[in-house]
This record gives sequence, structure tokens and C-alpha cells, in this order.
Amino acid sequence: MTGVDIDARKVAGLCRGEVPIAEPGLDALVAEGLARGGLAFTTDLRALAESDVVLLCVPTPTGPEGTADLRAYDAAVDSLAPVLAPHCVVAVKSTVPVGTTARTARVLGRPAVSNPEFLREGHAAHDFLHPDRIVVGGTDPSAADRVAALYDGLTAPVVHTDPTSSELAKYASNAFLALKVSYVNVLAELCERLGADIADVAETMRLDPRIGAAFLSPGPGWGGSCLPKDTRALLHTAAEAGVDFAVLAEAVAANRHQHERVVEKVRQAVTGSTEGSLQGSRLGLLGLAFKAGTDDVRDSPALAVAARLAEAGAVLTGYDPGVDRDGFPGGVVQLVDDVTLVAKDAAGLVLLTEWPEFRELDWPHLADLTHHATIVDTRNLLDSAMLTRAGFTYFGLGR
Ligand code: UGA
Repeated sequence: MTGVDIDARKVAGLCRGEVPIAEPGLDALVAEGLARGGLAFTTDLRALAESDVVLLCVPTPTGPEGTADLRAYDAAVDSLAPVLAPHCVVAVKSTVPVGTTARTARVLGRPAVSNPEFLREGHAAHDFLHPDRIVVGGTDPSAADRVAALYDGLTAPVVHTDPTSSELAKYASNAFLALKVSYVNVLAELCERLGADIADVAETMRLDPRIGAAFLSPGPGWGGSCLPKDTRALLHTAAEAGVDFAVLAEAVAANRHQHERVVEKVRQAVTGSTEGSLQGSRLGLLGLAFKAGTDDVRDSPALAVAARLAEAGAVLTGYDPGVDRDGFPGGVVQLVDDVTLVAKDAAGLVLLTEWPEFRELDWPHLADLTHHATIVDTRNLLDSAMLTRAGFTYFGLGR
């Protein structure tokens, strides 16, 4: 198998076994492939000339007005045209708007098959080897079978469908996850008003297999490089098709509301009033990545909350065990590499990413370092009784 990329630095690193992203298990897989000789990396597209199947995995970020920006994708397709062998099938792994696979087939004059991925960041290697489903959307049955055959060693149901359904299934899955989290976040707000506990409400829901156990944890909002981008793109597709997808638009609005709600919670916790001013308040942020287990801060709810806190005048210091200065955009948060610096003289702490190691911090010591030992735990990660014993005034979500 040969991997081609236009980024020469990444390719040179990969040839030496240096994986440019933090994904548990991926280093070992790449090292094994390189050692066995079955895996190679290059910037030279001609290396694909003999390939039977080419997997297109080009990023499709959000473009203007929520549409997917297909410039990199289209450039990759164009550059493949003169290279591929006549029998080669193109499998589209990129998340692309409905119709893109069919267009790719026309541009390349050969069968193209939609074959979206459902890998979670931080679990990509595991999810690839243990998929819960494989979707193959192709109009040419033999091309679709050849793509499905790539996964022969894996046990998972295979959905054979047309490219349109396959492309839509990818967006539909991510948008549904977003919907679920927005639902539980609003429910957490309702719990606070009514005196209910979101942990018990969500636990009751989880036990219903029709609802499912996952994606029912309240937080500062859903983020990352996929859910925000894919909800925007699906809303755009629906609008273009003349379908009012209000339920999804509401989930997006609820997500923005969640960022604001966290800020108001912090204001109340730190100043003791809904009207209090955060001007000049030193706040320590615990966690900046969009979720635990990754170094990724793209579209991170932590940064969305931070931007609003800074707008309200707060002075922000942030610590994240996965994020270093190289991958951090800077801006309103001063990134530090020692958690005690986040606590030092802080008027309050805000936990934004659910890193399990935060549970093991020396909380009594951190309480001593703060100016006001107040903590808003937007992930309900910490044991409130333990934090109270450590000297903190603890605020969670939805309880
Ligand atoms: C998501 C999907 O889960 C993958 O199936 C998909 O393949 C991937 O996008 C993609 O399209 O490439 P990922 O971006 O890694 O994966 O992030 P998730 O694990 O889905 O988390 C998304 C956001 O929801 C995070 O900010 C997370 O903290 C938040 N979340 C998740 C909650 O706030 N509560 C929950 O209960 C679950």
C-alpha cells in the first residue's frame, strides 16, 4: 500500500515512521507496515499508476456559507486523472456533499464508490480495525464489491447502497450525534431549573436500548473538526433541496447557547451574581482540546467559551495535558504547561475537557493556590464531595 500526500515534510516524516497526528496505536501500525515492506509513502502520484483501488482521504473543511470547501478534493481528483490505470477504482473516504462521488466518477471517467469513514479522533486505529459498520455506495456493482473486499478481514455489517445514500449516511450520523448532545445539554439546563439531576435522568435514558447509552453526557458544547462542519454542511444540503431541517438548526443554535450558558454559569459562580462583572477576573481553564484523548483544538468548545469569557473581560490561563504550544493558536488564552500556574491567584477554575487525569490532581494544593477556590466543572468529571473537602465551591452542569 502506498500513501501519497502533497506535504513533503509529512511524507518524509512518515517514511521515517514519524506519524504527524496523535492517534494511539497508529505509530505501531505504521512501524509494522514499514518494517514488513508493505507500506510506503511518497509525494509522487505516479506511485499509484498500478493501483487497483485508490482511497481519496482529502480534507473537506467548511467553506463559505457552510458548504464544504472542495478545492483540495477537486485538485486531488484532477491530479489523479492522468495517473490511474484503466482498471483502477476510486473510493471516496472524504466526507463529501451528496453528488460528489458521482461527479468524481464523471471527471475521472471510471467508477467511483462512496465509502465514508466513521473513525473517532483519539480512537482512529481501533475504530478502523473494529468498525461497527462499513458503507459502500456505488452504482457499478463490481467496483463496489472491490472496495468492500478491502475490508474482508474485518467483522462488521456492510451496507451496500447507492452513492447518494452513502454520502448522506455519513452526514446524518454525525448530525444525529450533535443532536443528541444538544438535547442532553438543554436537558441539563432544565434539570438545574427544576432541581433534578442530569446524571440520573441520562442514566435512565441510557438503559433504553432504543435511545442508546452514548452521547448523553452534558458538556460545554460539541466541537471538533467533524460535528460542527458536518451539521453546517447538512443544513446547507437540506436548504438547497428545499427541506426545512429546523430540528438540526435548533441543535446548532442550542450549541451556541451552551457556550453562552457556561459563561453565565462562570459569572454567577465567580461573582455570586448574574449581573456580576468578570472584567479583570483571572480564570484558569482546565482542558482546551475539543474532547479528552486528543491534542486537537479545532472548533473546540473550550476555545468558544474562552473567547466569550475574554470578551467579558476575564484574563485567561489554560492548561491541557494533550495540547502544546506548537498546536495552539494562542489568542485569548495564555497556555501554560504546569497546572499549578493555572490555579495560581485565580478567581475561579473552569474545567472544559474531560481528561481523566484531572481527577488525580492535588486539589487541596490547587485550592490553596487560588484566590477564590471556585470551580465550574462543565463535564461533571470531578467528584463534587471530594472537591468540597479540598476547599472548593463546586458547580457542575445539570445538578
Ligand atoms: C466524530 C464522530 O463521532 C465519528 O464517528 C466520525 O467518524 C468523526 O466525527 C468524523 O466525521 O471524522 P470526533 O470528531 O472524533 O468523531 O468527535 P466525537 O467523539 O464525536 O465528539 C464530538 C464532540 O461531542 C466533542 O466535543 C465531545 O466532547 C462532545 N460530546 C460527545 C459531548 O459533549 N457529550 C457526549 O456525550 C459525547
